[in-house]
Amino acid sequence: MTQPTQASPTPSDAASDLPSLPRRRGCPFDPDPEYARLREERPVSRIAFPSGGSGWLVTRYADARAVLADPAFSSRLSTGSPHVRRTLIPLPEQALPGALLRLDGAEHRSYRRPVIQAFTVRRVQQLRPRIQRIVDEHLDAIEHTARRSGGAPVDLVAELALPVTSLVICELLGVRYEDRATFQGLAGRLLTIDITPEQAAQARLELGAFLSDLVAAKRLDPGADLLSTLIAQADADPDGPLNDLALTVLGSLLLIAGHETTANMISLGALTLLQHPEQLAALRAEPALADRAVEELLRHLTIIQFGLLRVATRDTAVGGRAIRAGEQVVVALPAANRDPDLGRGAGPELGLGAGPDLGLGAGPDAVGLRPDLEQLDITRPPTAHLAFGFGPHQCLGQQLARAELQITLTSLFARLPALRLAEPLDQVPFRDDMIIYGVHRLLVTW
Ligand code: HEM
Repeated sequence: MTQPTQASPTPSDAASDLPSLPRRRGCPFDPDPEYARLREERPVSRIAFPSGGSGWLVTRYADARAVLADPAFSSRLSTGSPHVRRTLIPLPEQALPGALLRLDGAEHRSYRRPVIQAFTVRRVQQLRPRIQRIVDEHLDAIEHTARRSGGAPVDLVAELALPVTSLVICELLGVRYEDRATFQGLAGRLLTIDITPEQAAQARLELGAFLSDLVAAKRLDPGADLLSTLIAQADADPDGPLNDLALTVLGSLLLIAGHETTANMISLGALTLLQHPEQLAALRAEPALADRAVEELLRHLTIIQFGLLRVATRDTAVGGRAIRAGEQVVVALPAANRDPDLGRGAGPELGLGAGPDLGLGAGPDAVGLRPDLEQLDITRPPTAHLAFGFGPHQCLGQQLARAELQITLTSLFARLPALRLAEPLDQVPFRDDMIIYGVHRLLVTW
C-alpha cells in the first residue's frame, strides 16, 4: 500500500457534485468506456453511488489487488448504503454466521475452511467425467428437440447453461434437481439490481427456509454430498462454528454462487466466441486452447459487472489517495482486468493446474510490452486476472467454474460446427439489469 500524496476531499463534498458509478455500456461486450478514462486519469476517484452517498472507485489492477488483499479493508459492510450493496454483489443484509462474503479474518476462515476441500483442483478433476456426461446429455437433448421441431431456434441459456451448472452444484451439495425452479427463481430475484429491500428480504427468507428444510431432511437421511458432510462435522463438534444457521447461510451461498455465475459465463462466452469467428476457428482447430480461451473470456467479460465493495476499517491510502476509516471502496474488476499493467504477478495463484507450456509468467513483462487488454485474444498466455476476485475472499468455486466452462464450450462448438445466432445481436437481451452480467436468452440455430 502506497503512502498518501494527496489529501482526499472532505466528507462534506456533496455526493451530487461527484460523477456517478459508471454503468452505461457502449458495446455490450465492454464495460462503460468511462472506466478506461478514469484508470488513466484518476485511478482512485470519488464517486456518487446510485441511491446517494459517496465512496471511492478503484480502477487500476495493482490498486485493486492491494485493496482486496489488505485487512484494512473489510467485507463487513454495516455502514454501506443498501443500494450500493445490491448493485455490486447480492450480500446478505447482516453478517450472519456462515455468510462468507460478509465476514473478515478468523471468523471468515472458520467457515471457509470446512468447505474448501470440496473445491480443490484435485476434487474438481475427479468431477470432470461427470460434468462431461451432463453436458453431453444436454447436447443430445438439444439436438433431439431441434430435429423434432424442424430446426426451431434453441435458447442456450435455458437448455444448456442453466441446467448444466444447476445440476452440477445440486449433485455436489445434495440439493434435489427437481427443486431447480425454486432456487433458480430466487437467484433471479436476488440478483436483480432494482429489487426493493422488502422483496430482497422476502427472497432471502424463502431461500433460508428452503435450505433449512434441506438441512433438517439431510440430518435424518444423509447422503454422499457436501451438505451431509458439513452437517456431520457440525454434529461431531457442537462447540465449532457450524451451527444450523451457519449451514443454512453457507448452503444458500454455495447454491446461488454455484450456478448463476458460471451459467452466465457459459452463455456470454459462447456468444462472444460467435462474434469472433476467427478466434472460434482457432479454438476448434486446437481444442487444447480451451484453458487459455476460458481464462481470456473470464478476464475480458468480467461478469461481476460493478465489482466488489469494501469498507476501510482505519485511515489508509490507495494509489496515493488518502482513504478515511468508514469510507467505502468499489473495486472495479472490469476496469482492473483491462489495465495494460495486468500481467505482472502471473503465477501459481492462478491455480490452473497447467504445465509450463501455458507460458505462465512469460507475460508482457518478459518482452517489455504493454499488451492491448481491450481486445479479446484467446491465444494470450493466461493473465493473473481478477474475475474471481483476489485475497481471502477469492472465489471458492473457481476450479469448478473453469472445468464447467472448458467442458461446456468445447463440447458445444465441437458438436455443432454450424452453430450461429438465431436473432440479430441488437435483439439479444443483455443483463444490464442484473448484478451478474450475461444474457437472459441466447437463441441459436445450426
Ligand atoms: C464464472 C464463474 C464465477 C465467477 C466470475 C465468480 C466470481 C467470484 C468473485 C469475484 C468472488 C469474490 C467476492 C469478494 O471478494 O467479495 C467470489 C466468491 C465466491 N464464489 Fe465465486 N464465482 C464464480 C463461480 C463460482 C462457483 C461455481 C462457486 C461454487 C460454489 C462459487 C462460490 C463462491 C463462494 C462461496 C465465494 C465466497 C468466498 C469467500 O468469501 O471466502 N463461485 N466469486
